[in-house]
Amino acid sequence: MFELKHVSMEKNGKKIIENATFKLEYSGLVWLKGASGSGKSTILRIMCALEKPSSGEIFYKGVSIYEFNIPEFRSKCIYVPQMPILGQMNVMDCIRLPFSFKSNANKIFDDKKLNDLLEYFELQDATEKNINQLSGGEKLRIAIIRALLLDPECLLLDEPTSALDAKMEQKTLQLLKSLSEKKLIVSSFHTESIKEFCTQKIEIKDRYAIAS
Ligand SMILES: Nc1ncnc2c1ncn2[C@@H]1O[C@H](COP(=O)(O)OP(=O)(O)O)[C@@H](O)[C@H]1O
Ligand SMILES: [Mg+2]
Repeated sequence: MFELKHVSMEKNGKKIIENATFKLEYSGLVWLKGASGSGKSTILRIMCALEKPSSGEIFYKGVSIYEFNIPEFRSKCIYVPQMPILGQMNVMDCIRLPFSFKSNANKIFDDKKLNDLLEYFELQDATEKNINQLSGGEKLRIAIIRALLLDPECLLLDEPTSALDAKMEQKTLQLLKSLSEKKLIVSSFHTESIKEFCTQKIEIKDRYAIAS
């Protein structure tokens, strides 16, 4: 589904990613592994066209991602940053907001799925609140729920379990694993427990991305 070809990234004269070349299937849970500062967030941002690499090409279903209408591409392929900026509004309004975008006109809001996800992530009480009353971990889970309701073809997640306790971390990994049977999920994780859940690993080491 995704193909990176000779992707390199330099920032302020510093080489961050060098010649990253790999292919990802249409489904599966891909573990983007690497030390802090190795370039995981940079790769995810490049894949959703938020950052343009210094050189190289990125293809989504065989088409260069820069040929897509960007809002439409980001509706197929949703990126959830580690610290999502959700604004200051009621949590329900925040969850519903992207459904009002033209690029999501074909998406139907599923109340049952929302309730199931809120229950799964133990956030039933959050819907009455304002975003600024949520903790960092709660905001991240709301952003993930919102992305899942939009049911994208591909999900790019940046350390989705970093602010979770051990039980919630396991639940999240299990859910991502089961969803990845039908969609591609590319995610950075620090926890080694992802080992038993992932179908592929891309490890960034000394600027090089090694697929295995
Ligand atoms: N705007 C920037 N200018 C210069 N260097 C940057 C910038 N943003 C990130 N970096 C550097 O790029 C490297 C990779 O960052 P990042 O992709 O956030 O790594 P990770 O997500 O693996 O922790 C780090 O060394 C970081 O310091
Ligand atoms: Mg990062």
